[in-house]
Amino acid sequence: MELLKKKIMEDGRVLEGNILKVDNFLNHQLDIGLLNEIGKEFRRVFQDRKITKILTAEVSGIAIAAIAAQYFDVPVVFARKTESKNLDQETYEGKVYSYTKGKHYKIRVSKRYIAKEDDILILDDFLANGQAILGLKEIVDASGANLVAAGVVIEKGFQEGGKILREANVEVHALATIDAMIDGKVIFSDK
Ligand code: G4P
Ligand code: NA
Ligand code: NA
Repeated sequence: MELLKKKIMEDGRVLEGNILKVDNFLNHQLDIGLLNEIGKEFRRVFQDRKITKILTAEVSGIAIAAIAAQYFDVPVVFARKTESKNLDQETYEGKVYSYTKGKHYKIRVSKRYIAKEDDILILDDFLANGQAILGLKEIVDASGANLVAAGVVIEKGFQEGGKILREANVEVHALATIDAMIDGKVIFSDK
C-alpha cells in the first residue's frame, strides 16, 4: 500500500533492536485519514470473503479494527489482556508469549461474542514474532468459529511471525512488508 509505505518512510523512526516507531500515526497518535485508507484497503483485499466479525487484541489493534470494520459492516471484538470485572466469567483464552517480557500472558474474549457460526478476520498493527495472532487463533479455534485470515498493517518480514503463521495454515496479508531496517532506513519488500 503506497500511501502507507510513504508515511512509514516520512514519519516512522527506526530504533535500536529493529523496532519501528510509528506512534505518531498508528499506535499512539492516530492519523484517522490514513486509518480510513487502511480500512478500505483491508476491505479491498478481503472483498470476496465472507466475514462476520473482526477480532483484534487491545491496545494497538483496536483503532485499526474499528475503522476497518466500518467498511465490512461487522462488529469488532477485542481480546483483553488484563482480568477485568467487566469481563464475563465464561471466556475463551489464548496464551501469548512475549519475547520482550520473556513470559506468557493470557488474552481473553467472552464466550458471548464469538459463536461457532462466525467467520473471523483477525486484524492487528504489527506482525513480528506472530505470538499475538497465534493467541487470537487459539481463541477462534476454541470457539469453533472459522478463521478466514489475518490482516496486519506492517509485517516485519525478517522476523519469524509470518512463517510461523503460514505454517499453522493461517492466511496472512500485510499492507506493508519490511525486509530490513538498515542505518535507520526501512527497506520494503516489493511483494
Ligand atoms: P507479535 O505481535 O508478532 O507477537 O510480536 P512480538 O511478540 O514480537 O511483539 C510484542 C509487541 O510489540 C506487540 O505489541 C507488537 O505489535 C509490538 N511490536 C513488535 N515489533 C514492533 C515494532 O517494530 N514497532 C512497534 N511499534 N511495535 C512492535 P502488543 O504487545 O500486542 O502491544 P500493544 O501495542 O497492542 O498494546
Ligand atoms: Na499489537
Ligand atoms: Na503493538
